[in-house]
Amino acid sequence: MLDIVILAAGKGTRMRSAKPKVLHTLAGKAFVSHVIDRSHELDANGIKVIVGHGAELVEQRLAGPGIEFVQQTEQLGTGHAVQQVLPLLNAEATVLILYGDVPLIKTETLRHLCKKVSESSMGLLTIELENPMGYGRIVREDDAVTAIVEQKDCSEEQLLIREINTGVMAVKGKHLLQWLPALSNNNAQGEYYLTDLIAMARAAGITVETTQPTGESEVMGVNNRQQQAELERIYQREIADQLMVEGLTMMDPARFDCRGNLQVGSDCVVDVNCIFEGKVVLGNNVYIGANCTIKDSVIADNTEIKANSVLEEAELEADCVVGPYARLRPGSKLAQGAKIGNFVETKKVQIGKGSKVNHLSYVGDAELGEGVNVGAGTITCNYDGVNKHKTIISDDVFVGSNTALVAPVTIAQGTTIAAGSTITHSSEKNQLIVARSKQRHINGWQRPQKPKK
Ligand code: UD1
Ligand code: CA
Repeated sequence: MLDIVILAAGKGTRMRSAKPKVLHTLAGKAFVSHVIDRSHELDANGIKVIVGHGAELVEQRLAGPGIEFVQQTEQLGTGHAVQQVLPLLNAEATVLILYGDVPLIKTETLRHLCKKVSESSMGLLTIELENPMGYGRIVREDDAVTAIVEQKDCSEEQLLIREINTGVMAVKGKHLLQWLPALSNNNAQGEYYLTDLIAMARAAGITVETTQPTGESEVMGVNNRQQQAELERIYQREIADQLMVEGLTMMDPARFDCRGNLQVGSDCVVDVNCIFEGKVVLGNNVYIGANCTIKDSVIADNTEIKANSVLEEAELEADCVVGPYARLRPGSKLAQGAKIGNFVETKKVQIGKGSKVNHLSYVGDAELGEGVNVGAGTITCNYDGVNKHKTIISDDVFVGSNTALVAPVTIAQGTTIAAGSTITHSSEKNQLIVARSKQRHINGWQRPQKPKK
């Protein structure tokens, strides 16, 4: 049985923010939510989040199945924080202690650590650092861990130790129930140190077994915006590396952001400065040009999204071409071989096979059949100020440039709409419809003249 305790009460003064630190984000997701996701992957029995600063906000954001909140109204130290959950701890459970501001911890590392817990042992995650400044040092005697000493409490000799406490540990519930009430704050910071457990374990004949993370980034905490940005790049690089392993060509993995989940087929190419949000699925041989933002969309084989396009909740079948500078808003569905060109905005629209909206248009609340050609500057006037209405354009319709289609309206198959028309009535098959003022000719027209000086 596994109980997880996440420390998330701190204010994060150095973030200089009105928002509690653990709600600041990495890859678009709160730091603490990364930690909660890992906890779920471990099949925890219960996840207990210790909240203090901005508790209400944190609780609101994190509420979910299996999550309990425990208040730590005054932050008197990491040991004091864990003391707050004592009444909720199960003596027989393994208790894993995590930090809401250490977002990149890996599930495998934690699994490994939890395996070190038994009736006679506990697990401690440590790492050797070039520069251990600021961290609690791991003190060993004949290899066995005997204590953790905080930087401010270290002797000259202890300051030279490079193996440090990451803070992450796993302990049998019954051991925490025994040891935590005995913590004192008799130290340089006047805090109840969780780290004092280690010496207590030693005294009780419980061995402290250490394991290490795969890299430093896993245990890096965020205290300020610089560290946040640093971790963001590390994390994005990890995602990029994984995608490249899966066969994605990236023009520059350093200029790439995935804030969600990106799935790629074979031979896709992503040019620089693209942002992927939510769940995005690319088929095979998809090309995404520079500076695109793509959110919650599915793009099928051989489709090309040219530079500077923005897609949200769009579904594109194979062989489509979109952009440059296109905006596909939620509900945009393109059938095979459809084309959306520059400065075209679509919303809640179905574009049939091989149909084209190539220039400067707004097409919303509409259904387009196959082989439709929509000329430059076409607008579906879908909104009367209160209600939205639908425009239906059947197969093989030709919409002349600068047409306004006042919905609700249905254009029948094979209709040709003359350029500059304002269409308010539906058409019948294969008609030419012209709805513009007649051109008049006035002979010998005198233009107004500027008065001569
Ligand atoms: C702690 C460890 C140190 C370790 C380091 C790793 C202790 C005494 N020291 O030091 O050995 O090397 O982490 O980063 O544990 N928190 C609360 N309530 C509190 C105090 C802290 O929720 O009363 C939270 C903080 O918000 C933070 C985390 O616990 O997320 C760590 O607290 P912090 O005071 O930063 O610990 P360190 O001094 O860095
Ligand atoms: Ca501190």
